[in-house]
Amino acid sequence: MVKFTHIIKAFIRGIARSKVSLFGTTMTTAAFPILFIGILLELFGIIHNQYFGFVLYMFVAPAFILGLVLIFLGLFFFKGTEDVGLFTHEYLSEKLSVPENFIKVRKLIFLGTSLTFVNVFVIILLAYTGYHYTESNAFCGQLCHTVMEPEYATYSNSPHSRVKCVECHIGSGAQWFVKSKLSGTRQLVAVVAKSYATPIETPVHGLRPARDTCEECHRPELFHGDKLYIKDKILSDEKNTHVQTVLLLKVGSGGYKGSEAHGIHWHVAEDNKITYRHKDWEREDIFEVTLTKLDGTKVVFNKGEEATATNGEVYEREMDCVDCHNRPTHIYKTPDEALDEKIILGAISSELPFIKKIGYELITREYPSHEVAKNQIATELRAWYRLKYSEIVNNNMPMLNKAIEGVQAAYLENVWPSMKIKWNTYRSLRGHQNNSGCFRCHDDEHETSSGETISMDCEACHIILAEDEKDPEILKVMKGI
Ligand code: HEC
Ligand code: HEC
Ligand code: HEC
Ligand code: HEC
Ligand code: HEC
Repeated sequence: MVKFTHIIKAFIRGIARSKVSLFGTTMTTAAFPILFIGILLELFGIIHNQYFGFVLYMFVAPAFILGLVLIFLGLFFFKGTEDVGLFTHEYLSEKLSVPENFIKVRKLIFLGTSLTFVNVFVIILLAYTGYHYTESNAFCGQLCHTVMEPEYATYSNSPHSRVKCVECHIGSGAQWFVKSKLSGTRQLVAVVAKSYATPIETPVHGLRPARDTCEECHRPELFHGDKLYIKDKILSDEKNTHVQTVLLLKVGSGGYKGSEAHGIHWHVAEDNKITYRHKDWEREDIFEVTLTKLDGTKVVFNKGEEATATNGEVYEREMDCVDCHNRPTHIYKTPDEALDEKIILGAISSELPFIKKIGYELITREYPSHEVAKNQIATELRAWYRLKYSEIVNNNMPMLNKAIEGVQAAYLENVWPSMKIKWNTYRSLRGHQNNSGCFRCHDDEHETSSGETISMDCEACHIILAEDEKDPEILKVMKGI
């Protein structure tokens, strides 16, 4: 009769004979309690530190698994010189041919199975919590702190601040899951090796087609109606005059339940597939646009020039949400927008004479770092007001101090010298700033062979109800004043 302890002893002897196994055992034994307790702490949300998850899943977990692999590699392939007679072909065939020895084999199998069971349990737990960890915002946005800090900060101030990074950047399905983990690994390596691009490149050419991700939550084919778009602006005069632009944006619909596609969301109708060819990586220089209808008919709008990209490349892309909504969440403001918003919300008092003008001058200068920018802005604003409006410095320092913070914030929330992100590094394509955005196609220069163009008619997209007006009539009417 073979005792169970003999089997364990033989097993341990087997491990002890092989340095590889011994090393593996040490690793696994050391990692196991840390991992087990760590996973439980994570699972019940007791620890919220992003570095905790990182160390747990990027170092301890791989050590545990590597340890297990080493144990078995050692047992079977690096047994050392002394034969312990376990796990060899002779051993098994001897035991299996003698009925009395079956029991020993059974115990061995029992031991193996129970150890495997415990390990599989830990590995499943690990897979579950590790999966959630690598899909979390802590992992994506905060861990690569300086690298993705701008993306995380702009995201946190945006309408999508409660949508997880992975919902737009990965979406559902196994194929994109695998792709994202591969590219994620590459990015981690780039962060460690500091070989990432500054600023991080955009457009993101490997981005999943937006229709697969955005449409998990949005139904653009539904009728969105006309949207009143109000843009507040502050002029650079002494009084920091507040003016407004009001447009009626014809968002329309992509055609749903019999209603015909029309307006701005006409582009996302099933019936209107738009592809375009561009010369540059940034997709600014579009020389040909093709509209393919559901029945296969094609309309080609061409700028009349041959595809002569500087590097000989021609890129092609199917238009989707991100060709207009490229900044749904990483929203960088222009210096005007950033300051105007702070003034309108009261973070900067509009009673400070010329604060818009001086603020603008200060935030559009180049600074080597956030720290330097903060100091310079504070020093210069104080000096300027002391020189020109000393009564404010003498009587209303709190107002000036608050304004200084507001001007600093306007800069800090949009510019990151460490990542070479300046004003306008990342532009929005939703309107037609600097003749980009919609005007990349809607410029009256892309023509069909019969001379039709993609319209630049202002009224095709919006009705301008007021432009840079003080107290526009239309808003008074709406308020019933
Ligand atoms: C609502 C969808 C959405 C969410 C949520 C989102 N992103 Fe993005 N992200 C985008 C789009 C769209 C782009 C730009 C695509 C383009 O122009 O090619 C982008 C671009 C980026 C870029 C490239 C730099 C840039 O600004 O163009 C990085 C890095 C990035 N995102 C990281 C993140 C991180 C980290 C999070 C979570 C904290 C996140 N994203 C959340 C949609 C999203
Ligand atoms: C997981 C769900 C989800 C996904 C995915 C998502 N969004 Fe949104 N989106 C929202 C929610 C929720 C809001 C409304 C936020 C609010 O009003 O507070 C919103 C708001 C918007 C708005 C209106 C913003 C504004 O200024 O009022 C636009 C435009 C938009 N999303 C476009 C996109 C685009 C483009 C994508 C894909 C790149 C996308 N969304 C992906 C949930 C999502
Ligand atoms: C041709 C450009 C264009 C395309 C393509 C486009 N949109 Fe829009 N969309 C706009 C504009 C312009 C607005 C109005 C301004 C705003 O609210 O952002 C808008 C508004 C929206 C809104 C907000 C509606 C509201 O009532 O506030 C959502 C949500 C939205 N789009 C989602 C999408 C999604 C999802 C896609 C892709 C399937 C898409 N859009 C494709 C230009 C476009
Ligand atoms: C990649 C090229 C491209 C871009 C970028 C683009 N469009 Fe278009 N758009 C087209 C084409 C092509 C048509 C169809 C023109 C035609 O058939 O006469 C069109 C048609 C339209 C129409 C008329 C729809 C109808 O009811 O017939 C509107 C409105 C419109 N676009 C708004 C916009 C807005 C707003 C933007 C920017 C946010 C924009 N487009 C960006 C290519 C583009
Ligand atoms: C292809 C569609 C399209 C055409 C054509 C077009 N616009 Fe626009 N325009 C837009 C959209 C979309 C916005 C909203 C921008 C945003 O969402 O940020 C806008 C915004 C504006 C604004 C407000 C900008 C601001 O934020 O201060 C003005 C002013 C304007 N357009 C004037 C014009 C004039 C003038 C024309 C005719 C030459 C014209 N647009 C043609 C789509 C168009």
